[in-house]
Amino acid sequence: MAQYETIQHDVLVIGAGGAGLRGAIEAAGRGVSVGVISKSLLGKAHTVMAEGGVAAALSNVDDRDNWKVHFADTMRGGQYVNNWRMAELHAKEAPDRVRELEAWGAVFDRTPDGRILQRNFGGHRYARLAHVGDRTGLEMIRTLQDHATFERMSFYTEFTIVSLLKEGNRVVGAIGYQREKGLFFVFQAKAVVLATGGLGRAYKITSNSWEGTGDGFALALDAGAELRDVEFVQFHPTGMIWPPSVAGLLVTEGVRGEGGVLRNRLGRRFMFDDIPALYKNQTADTEEEGWRYTVGDKNARRPPELVTRDHVARCIMREVREGRGSPHGGVFLDIAWIKEKIPNAEKHIRAKLPSMYDQFLKLADLDITKEPMEVGPTTHYSMGGVRVDGDSQMSSLPGLFAAGECAAGLHGANRLGGNSLSDLLVFGKRAGEYAARFALETSLGRVSESAVNENIRQALAPFENGAKGRGESPYQLQAELQEMMQELVGIVRTENEMVRALDGIQKLKERSRSLHVEGNRMYNVGWHTAVDVGNLLTVSEAICRAALERRESRGAHYRIDYPDKSESLAKVNTTLHKGEDGAISVRLEPIKEMPAELKQIIEEMK
Ligand code: FUM
Repeated sequence: MAQYETIQHDVLVIGAGGAGLRGAIEAAGRGVSVGVISKSLLGKAHTVMAEGGVAAALSNVDDRDNWKVHFADTMRGGQYVNNWRMAELHAKEAPDRVRELEAWGAVFDRTPDGRILQRNFGGHRYARLAHVGDRTGLEMIRTLQDHATFERMSFYTEFTIVSLLKEGNRVVGAIGYQREKGLFFVFQAKAVVLATGGLGRAYKITSNSWEGTGDGFALALDAGAELRDVEFVQFHPTGMIWPPSVAGLLVTEGVRGEGGVLRNRLGRRFMFDDIPALYKNQTADTEEEGWRYTVGDKNARRPPELVTRDHVARCIMREVREGRGSPHGGVFLDIAWIKEKIPNAEKHIRAKLPSMYDQFLKLADLDITKEPMEVGPTTHYSMGGVRVDGDSQMSSLPGLFAAGECAAGLHGANRLGGNSLSDLLVFGKRAGEYAARFALETSLGRVSESAVNENIRQALAPFENGAKGRGESPYQLQAELQEMMQELVGIVRTENEMVRALDGIQKLKERSRSLHVEGNRMYNVGWHTAVDVGNLLTVSEAICRAALERRESRGAHYRIDYPDKSESLAKVNTTLHKGEDGAISVRLEPIKEMPAELKQIIEEMK
């Protein structure tokens, strides 16, 4: 019999980034008992990597903006495979969620007349991103954390969840361990909200910190819930590439929003060379017009650096592949050039982009007010995730909800920058609300003792291999997987390479059965990595399988063997399910017909 402690809550929130905190605040405010589990220390979340702003049609800077334009922009950015209901709710509710955050103490940058300032970002028609310099996600986490302390909830920090617990089809809790001491805990709950963030750590070059191992995706899939659209992985165009120790670290799109331009080795602004058809009539033809847009000329069109991320990332790769890249295999991002345009440019850059200034000075010994940065694409975000109902955020399993990056729907084939932060506010709140409602209508389910014992046995298996002095290193497996995903399932994909990746994943899965961990359970990083590897293998397989089924190029999913969009695939989502035998299957599911009034909005905005 395994040793464990049992804790009970009405609502259990797994993940303490923006979505988890917003969900927990909402649920607690509705009078239910809430437990929040954080894999890391509180406040350390990928939310802080959305630096440049939160998207909401507040129309503080441009009064032409409204929810309809935001809705149409989000659908176009996602190339119309988005869950249109989520895109509608998001665009309508984001402004209230941002104002609410302001009322809770978030210190946004201001317009001269004291309203929340908004900046330009890729794919957003008007200046829409409410921001706090280039530390918006950080300020949001700070505010949500502060606010959470006014609500009654319990935090369990540095806990890893290894499995969801079910009674029949219903999710009734989760089992995990305290990372510091290695002790097991069963969390019984009437409703569980997954808010575990993304899966960037499946790739070698990523903006994600060590926590981003696809835990929510794998927990949901293993429990029998469905995933959706996981082939759509966002490669943010601008990550650091030099020095190698910081490769992948995010360079905010806010740099381009403030007027930063991309140039190749020859000094050419290559983004002018290839504007996607969907953005042609809104993109400037000349440097001069692009600059006028940056400084707020309402008659000017956007600079080409502000088309969607999928396209910018591919253009950068093209420059590098064709020999016009920077010395370390990227391109140049130049904000220093604005000194030709405005007085006090250096002061302005330091005020608007303080983290970028510090980051490059400290990590790359480079002053961005004087010299261009070297940048290249970095794995940043998963558009796919747990399949949820657009209104309630409940998954296909009763009692299981998901919000934020680990939930699918809002972003379709490509997310617009800043829509992640508004996503987690809007749908974090909704998940918390509906989980609380669900909890108020149900009682605690029964937890199976044998399921708990089996989960603990499996979680501890790597120690048995360790004791026998044999087996595979979890670090080695993780590194091999990341290399393979980067090389074979990255920005540009082909059937051949993905089949090779799938084969490689099967072999790694086989080897992972004999993962080997030494020492004891007290803060054993090898053990934590062994658990992460299981999740990473699951999500990597899911990405490959979905990507193989989508025989076209759309948004972030680009296949050289199918370089065009397919008319029939424009109308489907990929839905993934894990069978009793452990096999992951994919089906193509028709997208529900969009109501006429939403179709009309899209038509009008075109
Ligand atoms: O570039 C950025 O600041 C990232 C924003 C986002 O991913 O939403």
